[in-house]
Amino acid sequence: MRSLLDAVATTEETSATRCIAFYRVVVQAINNQITAGNVLLFIQALNYIQTSLQILFSEFFSLQEALIFMERLYKFLDSNPTMDLTVSDRNIPNPITSGIVFDNVSFAYPDGRLALDRVSFILKPNQTVALVGENGAGKTTIIKLLARLDDPSGGRILVDGIDLKQLDLAQWRQQIAVVFQDFCHYSLTVGENIALGDLTALEKLDKLKLAAKKVGIADKIDRLEYQYQTLLGKQFDGTELSGGEWQKIAIARDFMREKQVQLLVLDEPTATLDPRSEYEVYSRFSELVTGKTAILVTHRLASVSMCDLIMVLKAGKLIEQGTHRKLLQQQGEYAHLWQMQAQAYQI
Ligand SMILES: Nc1ncnc2c1ncn2[C@@H]1O[C@H](COP(=O)(O)OP(=O)(O)O)[C@@H](O)[C@H]1O
Ligand SMILES: [Mg+2]
Repeated sequence: MRSLLDAVATTEETSATRCIAFYRVVVQAINNQITAGNVLLFIQALNYIQTSLQILFSEFFSLQEALIFMERLYKFLDSNPTMDLTVSDRNIPNPITSGIVFDNVSFAYPDGRLALDRVSFILKPNQTVALVGENGAGKTTIIKLLARLDDPSGGRILVDGIDLKQLDLAQWRQQIAVVFQDFCHYSLTVGENIALGDLTALEKLDKLKLAAKKVGIADKIDRLEYQYQTLLGKQFDGTELSGGEWQKIAIARDFMREKQVQLLVLDEPTATLDPRSEYEVYSRFSELVTGKTAILVTHRLASVSMCDLIMVLKAGKLIEQGTHRKLLQQQGEYAHLWQMQAQAYQI
């Protein structure tokens, strides 16, 4: 703010100086001390100096802004990994046969609050599993631990009986495809945006088209001016898509590695869609994901009622699990939330 006030003051001072200088030159011209040509030259020089000064000031402010981000970047680059990667070199079981086990897993963020509190469950191969619970229940934290973006503070995650910490991290990340709620909108072409799911397929138009078709965005892409070459996003004057269309592009990234991965996850990338649209996307996704383990995360129960297993989280604890029918019969938290949401959404 101080710099801004200084700049305004500087601008006012510049205008005053300009007026005085201009007045003196005009007086000299009237007294025939200088020629009319000199006056013209003077005015041009004055304008040039003023424009240069303005550019200098605006560049200075941009630089100041950029330096704030550079400070954050350097802080990030200097930070040390919080995970111990010294023993993670064992090959990933492929296919996983007995499943992925969360064994009494707890997790606390650096502020010390428990986001997960002794959570235990089994993800069996080829199942479609739903993770439901209200905002802040700990759903995304489970996905982050599963993708090994962090390690549990307590308990263990086992893949066919082997601790996830012992498995080769790069290999594990190749086995899991996740679309998070805050997925990125890249100012790249449509094709590049989808290929981010598998960069080796950047030039494989057939593969890009298949992924786009699976998520129901292929027709829209065909109608764009340059189809898969169309630049997206406003940043570089590209074509802007609607929120729902961006979501489909992000989900198409998941399908780019469908054949290689063992685990596909949607962590509420559809949260800004209306409940019916989310239901349609999730139903279609679970139909398409065959022979893989799929995890669908949402706070809307209707979107996942077709799943093989539904896990209900509340304040970091896994409080119920079972099929939709079994959980409704239990008359517990799931049944309670279902009734509440049914009234709100008129399911
Ligand atoms: N990066 C973070 N730092 C500190 N607390 C966090 C962070 N991310 C999430 N939390 C907290 O952890 C809890 C669980 O969050 P999250 O797993 O994102 O919930 P959900 O996905 O179910 O909405 C919440 O109380 C949230 O505020
Ligand atoms: Mg979340």
